[in-house]
Amino acid sequence: MARERTLAIVKPDAVKRNLIGEVIRRIEQSGLQVAAARFLQLSRADAEGFYAVHKERPFFASLVGYMCSGPVMVMALEGDDAIKRWRDLMGATDPAKAAPGTIRKDLGQSVEANATHGSDAPETAAVEIAYFFRTIEVVARG
Ligand code: CDP
Ligand code: MG
Repeated sequence: MARERTLAIVKPDAVKRNLIGEVIRRIEQSGLQVAAARFLQLSRADAEGFYAVHKERPFFASLVGYMCSGPVMVMALEGDDAIKRWRDLMGATDPAKAAPGTIRKDLGQSVEANATHGSDAPETAAVEIAYFFRTIEVVARG
């Protein structure tokens, strides 16, 4: 199992409902560790850049508007197999289809307002972490 880092975001819907602590509680309980954290309000350009891979998708404009609708908590997580473990903790994109006990099932409101983001592969994790954090801001926990 490789030691990995992944990007996690507590999205605006979850921040508005005061669920930052609940998400971090689940992260820490799972054994993953927070290696970097920032609380910030994304601009439209920030959200468009972050989700550039989805710019041709029908949901892109709505997704960008939603991601700018309030502050987000952005974190780099570290651990063995962290990318898959964080995706498993989050559950499927659509809360209605997510497995019981996952963050999106328990805390998500809709396919768009689904509480959290997680990177999907080592390459995207590296790009996404670098989008928000300088090298010096990510602290090794292992
Ligand atoms: O976040 P995840 O990797 O599970 O899903 P994605 O396919 O990479 O989509 C990115 C984000 O777009 C999702 O987390 C949703 O917030 C949003 N989305 C949406 O609004 N409508 C869809 N049909 C699919 C995704
Ligand atoms: Mg994705």
